[in-house]
Amino acid sequence: MAFLSDTLARVKPSPTVAMTGKVGELKAQGRDVIGLSAGEPDFDTPDNIKAAAKAAIDAGKTKYTAVDGIAELKQAICDKFARENGLSYEPAQVSVSSGGKQVLFNALMATLNPGDEVLIPTPYWVSYPDMVLIGGGTPVFVEGDPATGYKISPEALEAAITPKTKWFLFNSPSNPSGAAYSRDELTALTDVLMRHPHVWVMTDDMYEHLVFDGFEFTTPAQVEPGLYDRTLTVNGVSKAYAMTGWRIGYAAGPKELIAAMRKVQSQSTSNPCTISQWAAVEALNGPQDYVTTSREAFKRRRDLVVAGLNACPGITCPTPEGAFYVYPSIAGCIGKTSAGGRKIETDEDFATALLEENDVAVVFGAAFGLSPNFRISYATSDAALNEACARIKAFCEGLS
Ligand SMILES: Cc1ncc(COP(=O)(O)O)c(C=O)c1O
Repeated sequence: MAFLSDTLARVKPSPTVAMTGKVGELKAQGRDVIGLSAGEPDFDTPDNIKAAAKAAIDAGKTKYTAVDGIAELKQAICDKFARENGLSYEPAQVSVSSGGKQVLFNALMATLNPGDEVLIPTPYWVSYPDMVLIGGGTPVFVEGDPATGYKISPEALEAAITPKTKWFLFNSPSNPSGAAYSRDELTALTDVLMRHPHVWVMTDDMYEHLVFDGFEFTTPAQVEPGLYDRTLTVNGVSKAYAMTGWRIGYAAGPKELIAAMRKVQSQSTSNPCTISQWAAVEALNGPQDYVTTSREAFKRRRDLVVAGLNACPGITCPTPEGAFYVYPSIAGCIGKTSAGGRKIETDEDFATALLEENDVAVVFGAAFGLSPNFRISYATSDAALNEACARIKAFCEGLS
């Protein structure tokens, strides 16, 4: 009898977490590595949010709470959806968990049966397929088009839907491509979904606030109210307020689904950290200056990185609408040999050689289901990004 479960055998550890760990190891050995693999803002959590957490501790708000969130936070979330997304929810339609990751996990756990298919556009956030597999479902990939910055077409979505499709798992702005769908592009997808009433929509809006050049963020239930009764709108404070370590994510959707997600959480982690919940109330209800200032910084860095990468022979980098990632193609580098004698046959070869020879850590595209590419997280200082681009250029110039 095997000790480890068969389910676990199908699941791989997160490659982004693995790369971030490798960077730590190399730095500890004294190597001057620039790590561009971690998906978190380099800014500190705003002071008003920290103060709210300290006040919560001092006021003794340190006990268990209701399983899926305190009433004050659920109300703040309803207000946020009404204010920013034009979506009307009541607190019984809201679930709060330890990060957006747990929200997504609960929803999949609560709904998947063996054979259920989940449509996932590529390139995808690394955790989606594995979460689906843990839940006993089958990930079905819909390929993003390099010509549109790696967005999927309505035709590709339509072609992937079968009678077994349970969810369409949507993420805009995207990790890893940074691509964000305009209102028209999103409507073209929701038109397809309206023709298939058995398909539910799980939309991961984690990077909602990180959009540039006046881009208007929209979410499926907002552009197509006909989808409201079968959409779970997922969001969180990690990326919007530099609160990755606080672990608060949330979702709103139909009450029966939210109740089922609560059941999963009640038998696993119970409530998310009480203090973090009070901090999240302040994040959503308090001043929003951080959102604007971080957006400006990320836009400047996006422009710097896109220009730097497009100056590298063999690399083509689209300009994404949002998030803090770029997803350049390295098609022009495949088949070449690095200055250190490494043959570049895949994007993993490229990332390995770049790290070993020029001390820049990126995540190879195969980890996100679309090759040959790599992902850079530009949530780091301008100086580090300039130096990283110079090193990548030197690496590419050394290919023969
Ligand atoms: C697309 C996407 N969704 C969800 C998450 C999860 O965020 P958290 O669990 O910190 O809320 C991340 C984090 O990297 C992400 O990139």
